[in-house]
Amino acid sequence: MDLYEYQARDLFEKHGVPVLAGIVADTPEEVKAAAEKLGGVVVVKAQVKTGGRGKAGGVKVAKTPDEAYEAAQAILGLDIKGHIVKRVMVAAGAQIEKEYYFSVLLDRANRSYLSLCSVEGGMEIEQLAVEKPEALARVEVDPLTGIDAAKALEIAKAARFDDETAAKVADVFVKLYDVYTGEGATLVEVNPLIQDAAGNIIALDGKVTLDDNASEVRHPEHELLEDKDAADPLEAKAKQSGLNYVKLDGEVGIIGNGAGLVMSTLDVVAYAGENHGGVKPANFLDIGGGASAEVMAAGLDVILGDDQVKSVFVNVFGGITACDAVAKGIVGALAELGSTASKPLVVRLDGNRVDEGRRILEEAGHPLVTLAATMDEGADKAAQLANA
Ligand SMILES: Nc1ncnc2c1ncn2[C@@H]1O[C@H](COP(=O)(O)OP(=O)(O)O)[C@@H](O)[C@H]1O
Ligand SMILES: [Mg+2]
Repeated sequence: MDLYEYQARDLFEKHGVPVLAGIVADTPEEVKAAAEKLGGVVVVKAQVKTGGRGKAGGVKVAKTPDEAYEAAQAILGLDIKGHIVKRVMVAAGAQIEKEYYFSVLLDRANRSYLSLCSVEGGMEIEQLAVEKPEALARVEVDPLTGIDAAKALEIAKAARFDDETAAKVADVFVKLYDVYTGEGATLVEVNPLIQDAAGNIIALDGKVTLDDNASEVRHPEHELLEDKDAADPLEAKAKQSGLNYVKLDGEVGIIGNGAGLVMSTLDVVAYAGENHGGVKPANFLDIGGGASAEVMAAGLDVILGDDQVKSVFVNVFGGITACDAVAKGIVGALAELGSTASKPLVVRLDGNRVDEGRRILEEAGHPLVTLAATMDEGADKAAQLANA
């Protein structure tokens, strides 16, 4: 789960990372009141889960509460890379002397953690990595020892901070690492980390990605950080039923067992769709190992709830869960859903006990169900039905 800047700011504060005062607000009136409360120069900042807000006009300095009101009017409702701004943070204004960059992240390829650091912060890191790779230090962090005072100093030195500043930023790196491990994050990024006119090091912007697996087990309190309004309602419903579902922008609903099979089903359906008016897969849905009537019904219920869906392709390879169990699941699910199930279903079964599975579906003779012998045939049929 990616967090909003204001949520990252709160986690930073909890772990002792120096941040500025910030108040979230949803209307220009609230922004004005927040600016009055903070006093002095403030910065009104769009709260959207994408970077480059500054460049897009989503970060504005305001010298008075009235200016803050105007800034809020300009920022609220703004479209930043497809994200509409519904909320802003009113932050105390900093007097920036220098802008640095720091991040720590999960380095999957090397099965390790990685810290990136630069004395040239502010600009987007992807751009810095391309234009000035020599200015970006990359330091591997051993997950067993983490970022202690010595490691933090090593990172600061690698980024070529001068001795005095290195000591100051290193202290903040240790605290940011505490956010990273303490909250179960896969990314903690600060851009910019600044030095202000008085020589204070402050995290002015924060980007945190929490590991959902860690949140589920170790941090039940993270559920409060979830943005339930922004979540796709179908995805939220699938999550409630414990299904692995991702909504896509097509017409052919997909149900399969095993992520690999579902992924290749998406490809085959997209390919078949080229011959049928360009229809595309409507979703990814992996029902996993157990394809009981209950799971099948929950999956079908989610997919049929998608108005864009015109047909459904069920592609199951029987393994430990045999095809006859899956077939019973489909029949049971259709009975359970009754008239809610109103779109054609193409079913391809193969693997363990395939003959029994097919016989069960044939005997049930549900008017919406078509059996397909192969994956290609099923994909073609489902695409054709979606285009009808
Ligand atoms: N509280 C603040 N006080 C002064 N300047 C700020 C403050 N917050 C952001 N800025 C300035 O705006 C720039 C962009 O803000 P930032 O929070 O990094 O958003 P983004 O990375 O999405 O563009 C920063 O690099 C900094 O120069
Ligand atoms: Mg930034």
